[in-house]
Amino acid sequence: MSSWCQQLSEEGKVAVAPSILSADFSCLKDEVKAVEGAGADCLHCDVMDGNFVPNISFGPLVVRALAEVAKIPLFTHLMISEPAKYVDAFADAGSSAISFHYEAMEKGHEEVIGKIRSRNIMAGIAINPDTPLGAVKHLLSEIDFLLVMTVFPGFGGQKLIQEVLEKIQEARELRDREGYRFAIEVDGGIKADNAHLVRDAGGQILVSGTGIFKSSDYRKAISLIRGS
Ligand code: DX5
Ligand code: ZN
Repeated sequence: MSSWCQQLSEEGKVAVAPSILSADFSCLKDEVKAVEGAGADCLHCDVMDGNFVPNISFGPLVVRALAEVAKIPLFTHLMISEPAKYVDAFADAGSSAISFHYEAMEKGHEEVIGKIRSRNIMAGIAINPDTPLGAVKHLLSEIDFLLVMTVFPGFGGQKLIQEVLEKIQEARELRDREGYRFAIEVDGGIKADNAHLVRDAGGQILVSGTGIFKSSDYRKAISLIRGS
């Protein structure tokens, strides 16, 4: 059976993933329902440990609470130093997909990908704006999705780094040439007015935090980001 990511590619669709980091944490359930009702395709959960990135967000307890109310898939983005230690906790919490950072470790990426996939959920590798695609080339046949960061991770509300668009295009070309099957997720600074640049470059899962949750109309923001 093809995965949610593969289906997206097969159907040539663009998915919009609101990043819960910018939601109103005093009423997370309402926020989940609101973005679902507004057409969100999946939810993006930013996990920060105060070590790999200079900010702390939330852990498996919150992901579990989100999973209990969400009907759409939960993509957990681990911005933490020792992802291998926490894969099971975030899989148990109900993640449909887990990504971790290439930069978080010197070796052992294959093992972490294997660990995520052994839980029957989708595995992704995330790369910072200054990490070249070549660094993860050996992992591309193993992953369900590549998460290309268009800001340095740690905080919502930053400006998209336009230079990274080339890397997204490069990833798409490489995938199509070599026959890899990963979907391309893009994260950081995506809003209604610049999403077309990301889509044109080859982004398929577009993450947006402030672009959705700080807008006055979630439905409008989501459909403008999706471009349809
Ligand atoms: C950054 C996070 C992003 C962020 C996106 O560290 O990984 O997911 O929340 O937020 P915006 O869309 O506001 O840049
Ligand atoms: Zn993220």
